[in-house]
This record gives sequence, C-alpha cells and structure tokens, in this order.
Amino acid sequence: MSNLPDWVPPQIDTKRANVARVYDYWLGGSHNFLADQDLARAITAVEPNIRAAVRANRAFVGRAVRYLAAAGITQFLDIGSGIPTEGNVHEIAQQASPGARVVYADIDPIAVAHSRAILAGNPDAAIVQADLCLPDQILAHETTRRLIDFGRPVGLLLVMVLHFVADAEEPWRIVARLRDALAPGSFLVLGHATNESRPQVAQAAETVYNRSVTTDGHVRSRAEIQRFFDGFDMVDPGLVYIPLWRPDSAADVPSDPSKLWALVGVGRKA
Ligand SMILES: C[S@@+](CC[C@H](N)C(=O)[O-])C[C@H]1O[C@@H](n2cnc3c(N)ncnc32)[C@H](O)[C@@H]1O
Repeated sequence: MSNLPDWVPPQIDTKRANVARVYDYWLGGSHNFLADQDLARAITAVEPNIRAAVRANRAFVGRAVRYLAAAGITQFLDIGSGIPTEGNVHEIAQQASPGARVVYADIDPIAVAHSRAILAGNPDAAIVQADLCLPDQILAHETTRRLIDFGRPVGLLLVMVLHFVADAEEPWRIVARLRDALAPGSFLVLGHATNESRPQVAQAAETVYNRSVTTDGHVRSRAEIQRFFDGFDMVDPGLVYIPLWRPDSAADVPSDPSKLWALVGVGRKA
C-alpha cells in the first residue's frame, strides 16, 4: 500500500528528483519529496544563492505580468508554468485586468494536477499537460484555442523553462514557432539560467543537478539567451539579471545582481 499523499498522480516516481518539485521546494512549497529535497540541498551547498534567485524570479514574473497588463495584454500563455504557489500568473493578471485569460502548460503531471485543482471554477484560466518541444500541440490544443484569440496580442511566458530544452531539441526554432503564431503587439517574457558571471559555479551546479534529476538543465550564455528574442523589440532595460528588471524599489536590488544566476527580459513583437 502506498503512503503517498492523495495529490500524487499514479505512475509518479517520487524517488527520482524532478524539476518542478525541486523548484517548489526552493520556493517553500510542500509538493516535493525526499529526493527533490536532497537534490535541492545539494545544489544549495554548491550555490547558496539559488533560493534567493528562485524567489527573485517569481517576483520578476509578477512585475512582468503587471507590465503586460498595463500595456493592454488580456491573454497569457505560460509554458513551463510549474507547481502553483503564491502569485501565480492568473492571479496577478486577473487582479490587474479582470477577465484576463490565462492558459498554463507544463509537462509535469503534479504541476498539472495542482493547477487543475486551483483553477477549478475559474472559467478564464486552464492548464494543459504539454511538452514545450511540441509547440504546435500547445497552440492547437482545444483549451488554448478556447481561451486565447491569436488574432489579438498575447503575453507568452517562457520563464525558467528553456534551460530544460537541449540544443539538440532546437529551442530557438521552438520559440520562433511560438513567435510566428503571435499577433503583432504580443510580448515574450523570458527567464533563463546563465553561466555568464560565474561559469565554474554554473558548471558545478549543472553537474550536480543533471546527475539526479529527470530532466537535464542547460545553462546558456547571454548571446544564446538574447537570440530567443529574435523578432522581438526589447523592452527597457533589456536582458538583465533578475532584480534589475524594473525593480519596484531600489532596495530590492542586491549589490551584486549577477549572483542571482538568471537573465530575464521582455520583448514586444513589432
Ligand atoms: C523552474 S520551473 C519554472 C516555473 C515558472 N515558469 C516560474 O518561472 O516560476 C520549470 C517548469 O518547467 C517545466 N518543464 C520542464 N521541461 C518542460 C517541457 N519540455 N515542456 C513543458 N514544461 C516543461 C517543469 O515541469 C517545471 O514545472
């Protein structure tokens, strides 16, 4: 008999660490298991700033969604959305713009199960279980089509997910396919782990991570991350370390923002 909580879908291997659940642990969530916690702690030992980076990233998502809502965006497609925690995209978007529509997509069954539970009764938001590497399936999914009108601008979020797509899967082609489906005036919100400032730490953390997790991570250079914005005009301040993207307060910016691992940016499709 299983001692697993009833929110765990069948066929989940809880003994192997998983990207979504490791991230949930760093965020202080409760949807993770010993294997996830062990890996999260091992990476924290190599890179103590990781938890701060993960939290700063969630704050960035909030700022970016509010920015898009203020720019008139009322429909959002968030791919690699993760296990829902505080400040989810639909909460921020629907608070800023009541009636805003949000489609989440994630490959992870636990993220999908939790999102479904949270979104029950919300007619304007839904989740699809899907692989970013198959963008046409996400675009053509009946839930996506029901909630998103691709004739109007969309806010596309690809935050901390593309580093789980290997070069061999052609992540730049995947983003270009999504971009081509978007109407002019749409936005891309992107965050990606980088090896720019401390390549050795990045390499060590990547090695620890990939030894244990079900999906390998691939940190990338600034130039590689910038290429995801081909076809988009960068919104000020461009591609920057997480806390530097339109901070709510100068006090939110640490003395060395590059300690926070990831570059983020927002682009607008002309
Ligand atoms: C680090 S979390 C990021 C969550 C959220 N976007 C954020 O920034 O707070 C990465 C998420 O991407 C999902 N993911 C990884 N590879 C994916 C793929 N090929 N297709 C869809 N989702 C994927 C994982 O399951 C996980 O939930």
